[in-house]
Amino acid sequence: MSNELISYDPAGVLLPEHGLAPDALGQLASKLEAARTEVFDDARLFASGGEAPAEKQPLDAGFHGLPERLLDEYREQGSASEVARIQATADRLAGVVDRAVVLGIGGSYMGARALLEACCHPYFNELPRAARGNRPRISFEGNNVDNDAVQGLLDLVGRGAAAKSLEERWGIVVISKSGGTLETAAAFRILLRHLQESCGNDDAQVANLVVPVTGSSGKLFDLARGLGCQELYPVPDGVGGRFSVLSAVGLLPAAIMGLDIVKLLEGAAAMNEHFRQQPVGENVVLDYTGICHLMEVERGCDVRLLSTWGKRLESVGLWYDQLLSESLGKQERGAMPLTVVNTRDLHSRGQQHQEGKRDKLITNITIGSCEREPLAIGVSEQDHDQLNSLAEKTLPEVLRAATQGTNQAYREDNRPTAELHLPQLNEHTLGQLFQMLMLATVVEGRLIGINPYGQPGVEAYKKNMNAILRG
Ligand code: PA5
Repeated sequence: MSNELISYDPAGVLLPEHGLAPDALGQLASKLEAARTEVFDDARLFASGGEAPAEKQPLDAGFHGLPERLLDEYREQGSASEVARIQATADRLAGVVDRAVVLGIGGSYMGARALLEACCHPYFNELPRAARGNRPRISFEGNNVDNDAVQGLLDLVGRGAAAKSLEERWGIVVISKSGGTLETAAAFRILLRHLQESCGNDDAQVANLVVPVTGSSGKLFDLARGLGCQELYPVPDGVGGRFSVLSAVGLLPAAIMGLDIVKLLEGAAAMNEHFRQQPVGENVVLDYTGICHLMEVERGCDVRLLSTWGKRLESVGLWYDQLLSESLGKQERGAMPLTVVNTRDLHSRGQQHQEGKRDKLITNITIGSCEREPLAIGVSEQDHDQLNSLAEKTLPEVLRAATQGTNQAYREDNRPTAELHLPQLNEHTLGQLFQMLMLATVVEGRLIGINPYGQPGVEAYKKNMNAILRG
């Protein structure tokens, strides 16, 4: 696995026709650097256990140093470290179940789903167990209250029928930092009942098949203790839900899928180092933040399209949609993120992006090379589709032509387009990308004076829903 860094190229935005001066980023450099310093001060304050001033609360800056902290502990403490224990739990579970149901909502599951889609086989759950590397299938629930979806999952797991073989056995990873989120709690209660039935109400067996990830206190914590769960992982204090992908919240599901969680953390640590050292103009985090900010305040582009190419980054985009929306969508401000999956969405949203309102900044995410042998279109005796003239072209070549053609069309119509480039799609680049986008979000928050942590607006619906249900 190569450890090459991801890169960012704003050349398609820094054009006179977009109204940004060629040195616009340079002019913003001192403000970006001040925001970076503040982000480091936040991390230091958090690490020292100091009290954050009122205007900075909540200060969930714990995500920043988390990769290094976990890696150091792993190197120093070996099998006693959290990373090694997560890996051991994942391996144990993978050895005894053929489906892991991951329960969680928002930041408590979106990172895991992003990892499954980006780094695992595209048809992971459909593969026979051996082709999955003897890892269990992964199903997500607790991220809604959709009766028929939960019923459908119960059909899959046997509705409480006794599991007679490994293929029929399943387990639950339930993730909630607060431990009180109703969607997740309701799904857990329903699924747990069926799991208990399927284990003949053997408490010890159930306790081995349920792994909670939660805060150090709360309803889920108490329930886990009540169930006798031996393995329980923390969402560390000071790491908010949408910033928790590189804690047990994302690492445990990733390890169950068979992904290399050390590489994920190493990628994130490499991004931290890059962010710390590189100047504006060569710093992926600062440059991305600066360009997004400039296009918003100077050109009114407050819709940010994250344009992914190929099928595997959609859930990474949705994870980022949540990160940006919940972090900066406050005080009637904050840009609107939108994930696009091309070429698919060229046939749905493409028209609007090409000719609609000039309120959009496009950031392509491109991937250097695909993992598998490139497939050629090939020759056919039935050339009614007239593809024989393209017979030698491969799917990656077609995708590249679509990307270049779209960029050209956008350039000709003055649609600002930047590029975020991943040399490959693997745990190391994903770790970098997660950390880069989390850092960019908090840098932008500090730049514009919005606290990126906390999500006070989400409380209103929860309060109302509870009042309606219990009233
Ligand atoms: O970013 C956040 O904090 C939220 O999106 C949470 O992750 C989400 O609301 C789930 O919360 P919890 O993990 O407490 O169930």
